[in-house]
Amino acid sequence: MLSNTMIEALNEQIRIEFESSNLYLQMAAWCAWKGYEGGETFLRAHSEEERMHMMKLFTYVGETGALAVISAMEQPKAEYESLSDMFKQILKHERFVTSKINELVDLAYKEKDYSTLNFLQWYVAEQHEEETLFSSLVDKIELIGHDGRGLYLIDKELGKQATAAAGQ
Ligand code: FEO
Repeated sequence: MLSNTMIEALNEQIRIEFESSNLYLQMAAWCAWKGYEGGETFLRAHSEEERMHMMKLFTYVGETGALAVISAMEQPKAEYESLSDMFKQILKHERFVTSKINELVDLAYKEKDYSTLNFLQWYVAEQHEEETLFSSLVDKIELIGHDGRGLYLIDKELGKQATAAAGQ
């Protein structure tokens, strides 16, 4: 059985993962608007991934006999200065998500809630993977450059990453 504090914290994480899904879907729309097809495919797929993160939490809360609650969500930002700006904001967002997962882990430790602690391990590993992925994409964008050819190559790379992830 979960404590009320833990139920509240897990429900907050449901909102954060849902917001992440909406944020990446909105970013996919911006990519489509700007003609970045690879970026659109990549971010649509990532939006689905975030929905899966949300659903895992939603299922876990329900399985413990508690009530999963979907709360009001923040409207995602719709426009970006550039592809580089957008990916920097994604990396910043993922670092924020990692900090929230770490807070949940701290709480589970404090409450000796070993079931939730075990459940959260998947998120700890996932956040490590996501930060590594987005940090390398930010580096690549910086390296390849911001001119037309550079952006074309980055967009192709994003399309390739999305296809590779779908084949996993
Ligand atoms: Fe579910 Fe990208 O954090």
